[in-house]
Amino acid sequence: MQQQAPEQIKESKVIGVPTSRIDGPVKTTGTAMYSSDHHFPGLVHAWPATATVASGTITNIDTSIAEKMPGVLAVYHHENIGQLYRTPPAAGFSMIIDEKRPPLEDTTIRYYGQYVAVAVASTVEQARAAAEAIKITYAKTDHDTSNKLLGTPLSEPKPKEVTKRGDTAAALASAVVKHDAVYSTPTETHNPIELHASVAVYKDGKFTLYETSQAVVNHRDVMAAMLGVPPEDVQVITRFLGSGFGGKLWPWPHALLAASCARNLNRPVKLVVSRSMMFQSVGHRPAIDQRIQLATDAAGKLTAIQQDYVNHTSMLDDYDEGCGEATGFIYSSPNVLVTGGLARRNVGTPTSMRGPGAVPGLYALESAMDELALKLKMDPVQLHLINEPEKDESTGQPFSSRHLKECITTGAEKFGWNKRTPGIGSMQRDGLTLGWGMAACTWIAARTDSEATVELHQDGTARVICGTQDIGGGTYTAIAQIVAHETGLPLNKIDVVLGDSSLPPGPISGGSWATASVTPAVLEAAQKAGKSLLGAAADAANGPFKGKKAEDLEFIDGNVRIKGQSAGAVPLSEVLRIANVKAVSGTGKSEGTFGNPNLKYSFHSYGAHFAEVTWQPEIARLRVSRVVTVIDAGRMLNPRAARNQIEGAVVMGVGMALLEATEYDPRSGAPINSNLADYVVAVNADTPDIDVTFLDYPDYNLNPLGARGVGEIGLAGIPAAITNAVHHATGIRVRNLPIRIEDLLQSPGEAKRTA
Ligand code: MOS
Repeated sequence: MQQQAPEQIKESKVIGVPTSRIDGPVKTTGTAMYSSDHHFPGLVHAWPATATVASGTITNIDTSIAEKMPGVLAVYHHENIGQLYRTPPAAGFSMIIDEKRPPLEDTTIRYYGQYVAVAVASTVEQARAAAEAIKITYAKTDHDTSNKLLGTPLSEPKPKEVTKRGDTAAALASAVVKHDAVYSTPTETHNPIELHASVAVYKDGKFTLYETSQAVVNHRDVMAAMLGVPPEDVQVITRFLGSGFGGKLWPWPHALLAASCARNLNRPVKLVVSRSMMFQSVGHRPAIDQRIQLATDAAGKLTAIQQDYVNHTSMLDDYDEGCGEATGFIYSSPNVLVTGGLARRNVGTPTSMRGPGAVPGLYALESAMDELALKLKMDPVQLHLINEPEKDESTGQPFSSRHLKECITTGAEKFGWNKRTPGIGSMQRDGLTLGWGMAACTWIAARTDSEATVELHQDGTARVICGTQDIGGGTYTAIAQIVAHETGLPLNKIDVVLGDSSLPPGPISGGSWATASVTPAVLEAAQKAGKSLLGAAADAANGPFKGKKAEDLEFIDGNVRIKGQSAGAVPLSEVLRIANVKAVSGTGKSEGTFGNPNLKYSFHSYGAHFAEVTWQPEIARLRVSRVVTVIDAGRMLNPRAARNQIEGAVVMGVGMALLEATEYDPRSGAPINSNLADYVVAVNADTPDIDVTFLDYPDYNLNPLGARGVGEIGLAGIPAAITNAVHHATGIRVRNLPIRIEDLLQSPGEAKRTA
């Protein structure tokens, strides 16, 4: 299964070299322009008014006081915002939006915090004061924000079958060993440090929108459709993102409010979504219940896997978390059934959050595997190893590059797993009880369509443009490395321009596929620019390559030379000066793999987490003290940025296991812990020692550099590794995240659901 590395990549001076962010200096000096940093003459501020009921109808909006307040320019609501449209049905992977209803479309309230009006004023304080002075009356109806999902009415009469092979019911009925349990995960809210924001400029019928977007091209297309203008009249710019975690993949209603206000007033408008509003109307990971049933033979070989999940969605939109993402192929089992259902609640529309589907799905499945191992009296490492498949049993495809077993054995070795004693609370250190747990993980590896252009300039620099964006994970740097690899120019001579929908369309910053997607397009563009350079060198009548044809020349290490002759090499800048050409360029274009049913291989990344917790029963204090993670995600173009992604994901996993939950007040339907004091995320003090290893097997079937992606996989599996460790330390099995002190104060056994 191991693929051979082409010589040129083995020798690269930049690919695989730990590289500092090329955008680090502008970020650390505060000169990087984030969306809300943009300011324009005449700019005014918008502040939305939000529904204070979770279900009902607006019966009256009284704006008389708000309109007379200082600095107020306008107050808009459903009667005067102007026409906004819904998007047409998407063709392929385009025109994507999760909350499809345009803001202020009607008077129906479907969730607490839904936008009901927007005030525009000279200052943000004036706009906020005016928004709060709008008097809105509602006819309330009953709402439901309950997180009890399995067994409640679904949006469709029956759950849909997501994955199916064999006869799971029969295999479960005749199983030698069986496990059957329900795992629940709460609503989680994305909390990137950068707030969502839109700065909308409307001039001469055209929109320039400075957005917090993980997908500028899709954002442009959706905004154009909803504003009712041609796409060429909309330009979306996102130069930098203070992260997004999936919350900024698709447009949200505030962007349409800002653009509408700018058009109505013919002035630049800034709208920054408050932290509190970010818990309402820019998506979240939905609450999910999952029933997992596993069956094995006496030796522990899986004979059946059944996963039945239900996630909540909003009243209007069908957001499917897709919890079975990994279930069909991660283990060998002749019988597999995954069903999925949606339960409508009075909440904002959910959206993708780092590792959608796989992260909650693998929390449940990997918890269940640990429980199964206990029933089998088998080491969980062993249970994983003996259920390794030969091929992707959900599709019959061979795996392109799968090294899960090596992830597990390497991780076990680095962690010291062989010192583990299986008895509950049997391990101690410095007066603390230790718990050790492990879990496997996987995440899709894919490419989407991408284009890019590379220019080589007479001043000796290269410029690469691509309509993707950098969420913060290092896309600027990865693209510069690819160009440096191909041209031999140093990184500081390469200008990377991203984050503008008018550039050649590039991938979304999502799915962990941006790097893999841009790689072939950028390589091709750089190669074509190099060819054009050789043409210019050959054409130059009085140049050093007079009489040579372009085919006799090569572009290596930033120089043009006669093929194979290092003597007489001429630098790029000199070649173009002699030719009197300002710049040469090349464009690259690659087709994606995502959604293609005819691929030759099954493309996924894999990993294993080993977690240690310390437990002090006297004071019910639980800490995650140590994590060893081994990741098989293709070749790491930039191991420094990649390690940082995995470390960040592990920290987020500590938050998912122990801290994060959005709580809806059952009385009002409001997400009540809508701030960073009450919605607790893992911070430095919660961060364990993290040891990350990359196996670094290039996946050349996916792209010529063998890169896959690392944005999401690190979060998959880590919550289960932690809850499994907690069980090892305490004997308490928590099947409802996050683990709370109340859970750990219960007697050993299955923790009763406390929330
Ligand atoms: Mo990721 S949830 O695809 O931004």
